[in-house]
Amino acid sequence: TQPGYEIDQMISAKAIAARVEALGAEITEAFQDTDRLVVVGLLRGSFVFIADLIREIGVPCEVDFLEASSYGNDTTSTREVRVMKDLRGNIGGRDVLVVEDIVDTGHTISKVMEMLRARSPRRIKCCAMLDKPSRREVDVKADWTGFEIPDEFVVGYGLDYAQNHRNLPFIGTVRFLDEAK
Ligand code: PRP
Ligand code: MN
Ligand code: MG
Repeated sequence: TQPGYEIDQMISAKAIAARVEALGAEITEAFQDTDRLVVVGLLRGSFVFIADLIREIGVPCEVDFLEASSYGNDTTSTREVRVMKDLRGNIGGRDVLVVEDIVDTGHTISKVMEMLRARSPRRIKCCAMLDKPSRREVDVKADWTGFEIPDEFVVGYGLDYAQNHRNLPFIGTVRFLDEAK
């Protein structure tokens, strides 16, 4: 059976690697004075990015994960973000970097940052691989962004379409095929 769509490459694996290296250098600089950074990946989308990013971070760090899920009332800003899996460690007094694959409407990252800020970290920052500013419903911006992209459905490098294609080494756009022909 035909999938009904094709994937066009938007950002190559090489371009991603170069950008991740640059982000790692900036983050290393920003956290130069840290005792030990806690790098927090938001499951599941960020797992590929966080794996690459931590290897470009040159300060001591540990890794933790958090899974949040946003629930409907699809009519914009009343969206509820629930924690499905919390961090293993305590971040009170710690330097924290939250890593996300994409900031779309902004609900997920804004709620997660708000929730983690309430745990009194010493410092908390956020790095997102992709930013889709045209879709924003909450006024939020990552401290570091890999690439700003237009409003296209993207997959690969951790991002899914119905749980598929997270394993693509590049970031691609989904192009739906015309069924009428
Ligand atoms: C996606 C993406 C971000 C979030 C961005 O996660 O990975 O976490 O949505 O959307 P927002 O800015 O509109 O909140 P998803 O809920 O698809 O889960 P996943 O990471 O497991 O794919
Ligand atoms: Mn996600
Ligand atoms: Mg998803």
